[in-house]
Amino acid sequence: MGSVTGIVDANLAPDSSKGALPTSVSLETDVRSQRKTFSAYQHTIYMNGVRDVLPNLTTNPNNWEAAAKAVMEPRDFDYAKGGAGAGETVQRNREAFQKWSIIPRMVRGNTERSLKVTILGQEWPSPVAIAPVGVNKIFHADGETGIARAAGTLGIPYALSTFASESPEDVAAAQDSTCKDGPAIRWLQLYWPQSVDQDVTRSILKRAKDAGYTALVITLDIFSMSWRPMDLDNAYLPLYKGASTALGFTDPVFRRKFRERYGHEVDDDVLKGALEWENTIFPDMAHSWHELEWLRQNWDGKILVKGIQHATDAELAVQAGVDGIIVSNHGGRQYDGAQGSLEALQEVALAVGDRTEVLFDSGIRTGADITKALALGAKAVFVGRPVVYGLGARGQEGALHVLRCLLADLEINLAITGVRNVTDLKPDMLRRNA
Ligand code: FNR
Repeated sequence: MGSVTGIVDANLAPDSSKGALPTSVSLETDVRSQRKTFSAYQHTIYMNGVRDVLPNLTTNPNNWEAAAKAVMEPRDFDYAKGGAGAGETVQRNREAFQKWSIIPRMVRGNTERSLKVTILGQEWPSPVAIAPVGVNKIFHADGETGIARAAGTLGIPYALSTFASESPEDVAAAQDSTCKDGPAIRWLQLYWPQSVDQDVTRSILKRAKDAGYTALVITLDIFSMSWRPMDLDNAYLPLYKGASTALGFTDPVFRRKFRERYGHEVDDDVLKGALEWENTIFPDMAHSWHELEWLRQNWDGKILVKGIQHATDAELAVQAGVDGIIVSNHGGRQYDGAQGSLEALQEVALAVGDRTEVLFDSGIRTGADITKALALGAKAVFVGRPVVYGLGARGQEGALHVLRCLLADLEINLAITGVRNVTDLKPDMLRRNA
């Protein structure tokens, strides 16, 4: 019989060196069943424990925020955490999950399990994607390229924000560099410029296509900034420091227009450039549904709208011809006093049926949360702040760790509650609490 250390070493993923999280694995092989699973991360962690190696970031979803807070600049942490107004919507996003209970089923023969889903014709390894979140460089120097490498490692989709601190081309290359199991899946989130800036939009769409972004996520719930006391108290908008201008500042059309208007380059006056970028993407002017037609004519990939909370809006989106909707309230950052996003999900999903893809975000923190959202009608979910907190706390490795925890938790949740495939999740496995 070999030594304990020998057995542990033989059972660890090849790159699980002491004290570090593995960074170049996607699915690990479960040593007991020899199946490739996300849940094998649990085994890796326990095996590391035999050598007294602890995870370098907590696995407890309730503690990721505190771990980030402990090391981040206070105003940058506040920017990530903050919500609109008194934070009621942020709170209700979590409470909405607690209103539902999962009813587990036993002895279901679900030895083989799958997290795979097909979204807009592409197979995803799990129903989890990374939400568009701007200004990642203020959270950690690893920035969006760090998140993209984490996404690539796991083969999961990444929706890059218009407000990113790194260019879509750099982010695409980073994701490709770690994505070994097929083409990386990436989408570009777009704040929707007015028609006066259609030339800028056209340029962005061309760049996105060239860099392999296959879908546009049009965020509907911001055409102007909300009232955010945590940022107001810090008098801090990262945009004005040039932290979220990469897409604009690397865009040849935006740069040319700026030069023609002001007689110098954006880099020579970052604040003026940032204000101009803000005017382009947050012009404080509302859009109408028929304007989506212009996007459809100028983009031959998929189009989704993000920020739907009302069944009527979902119906209008379907009539406008979108390929998917994301039920979201922006993680409670845009309006206060609203319902939790999960409260809107079932009604919206029932209203649109299978006429469009229904995805979800706002408040996802655990595998059980993902289970509930899928049972209530989402085909997949986006995760926002947990990934930001992982990044803020430990950079790329922290973001990867958070994602692996969520995926392992989800897969184990399915196993224990008697589910074979995530696509089998239905409302009848949930009960609304009295
Ligand atoms: C966001 N979100 C967001 N959404 C978007 O469409 N474009 C963006 O640039 C941003 N930026 C952004 C920054 C930060 C710091 C956060 C926390 C969120 C919203 C995001 O895509 C998603 O809707 C929420 O984060 C989901 O809620 P949770 O998972 O954070 O609770």
